[in-house]
Amino acid sequence: MQKLVIQGGIPLRGEVRISGAKNAALPMMCASLLTSDVLQLSNMPDLHDIATMRKLLEQMGVKAVVQGDEMTLHGAQVDRLEAPYDMVKTMRAAVLVLGPLVARFGEARVSMPGGCAIGSRPVDIHIKGLQAMGAQVFIEHGYIHAQAKRLKGARILFDIVSVTSTENLMMAAALAEGVTVLENAAREPEVVDLAHCLIAMGAKIEGAGSHTIVITGVDRLHGTTHRIMPDRIESGTFLVAAAATGGSIVLRDTRADILDAVLEKLTEAGACIRSDSENIHLDMMDRPRSVNVRTAPYPAFPTDMQAQFMALNAIAEGSAMVVETIFENRFMHVQELHRLGARIDVEGNTALIHGIDHLEGATVMATDLRASACLIIAGLVAQGETVIDRIYHLDRGYEHIEIKLSQLGANILRINK
Ligand code: EPZ
Repeated sequence: MQKLVIQGGIPLRGEVRISGAKNAALPMMCASLLTSDVLQLSNMPDLHDIATMRKLLEQMGVKAVVQGDEMTLHGAQVDRLEAPYDMVKTMRAAVLVLGPLVARFGEARVSMPGGCAIGSRPVDIHIKGLQAMGAQVFIEHGYIHAQAKRLKGARILFDIVSVTSTENLMMAAALAEGVTVLENAAREPEVVDLAHCLIAMGAKIEGAGSHTIVITGVDRLHGTTHRIMPDRIESGTFLVAAAATGGSIVLRDTRADILDAVLEKLTEAGACIRSDSENIHLDMMDRPRSVNVRTAPYPAFPTDMQAQFMALNAIAEGSAMVVETIFENRFMHVQELHRLGARIDVEGNTALIHGIDHLEGATVMATDLRASACLIIAGLVAQGETVIDRIYHLDRGYEHIEIKLSQLGANILRINK
């Protein structure tokens, strides 16, 4: 079992390159099921979830070749229209094969993802959307069975803004007969990046990035090459780590225009931020000030940055409220922060954080991907040694994070114990 060992108290300094976005790469890999031509993706991050998605597509018959940060996917010989439980249970994003399979092959058998550490996370919106497009969908023995001779365009109103539902149905609608309108759709930058890739494959999509996406179905999609956008959550995580340690860093190969809510909160906390088209500079001269955050769909404050800001607020000047509105169980990191001496009270979906002078190193346990990032930030500021257990969560979404942090001067080691 691998662990991370951190000696805290060192301000982060220097520059680091940001990887491609996990949450853009995963749906785009599934887009390879929509065509018999070759889809070439570059700036692919080297992550566990990417490897799992690759295995899932390969067991369906997709040929995948990886060279450096490039992945070539060829869906000409897909012969198995199933996503088995063993693969889906480790990665919920596997549900993103559902729309493309039904759209191109008229059939799919996909395991229900089941619950996860941060919430129940049902997939009813994905299913309702496919049914609105004329698919027969039923659940049996824990599997979603979907069938349709050819999907038909429909007007679909989401009662909750859902990122992967928007992506799944946008991919399905690309090969449907007629026009589909997705209302109250997710506006996340990853949805827009996927739409750009689909349009380059010949799809007719308008309004990606707004709440209303209009897709005019086509008979066939072709291959293309696409560079994955930078990971805004990885960017935000490094910026918060630098702010919490009182450091000065430069992020390369990233984008500031998709991080407004996060950069605003960091500025409110006292950080000095400069950016240009591909770089973000952050300098933190003084102790951070506490900042209130409330998570909500893009462009508001991202839930995937909530835990990291909790670590920042734990050592900030003042008290702050963190309200989590997207997932019902995304405060698992609070108990672990208590072990480092943090003063946090939780009531329902609201946490009240009383900033203290310093945290003290201890052994803690990661419970999910972003909670792991929170504990790393807490370990970087804590006095003494922090040991983080169960770091497999981390490897699902951060590419070689301890190597990148060492590059910025952190004293952090991955050990086998
Ligand atoms: C995506 O998950 C991201 N994952 C998540 O990132 C992110 O936290 C989330 O969007 C919100 O931004 C990927 O893109 C692979 P949702 P997704 O559907 O699409 C409810 C990370 O750390 N809902 O937007 O699964 C749901 O329970 C991960 O990288 C339904 O009720 O999230 C939640 O409360 C974690 N029924 C809300 O909608 C449905 O059918 C938003 O979830 C679908 C969702």
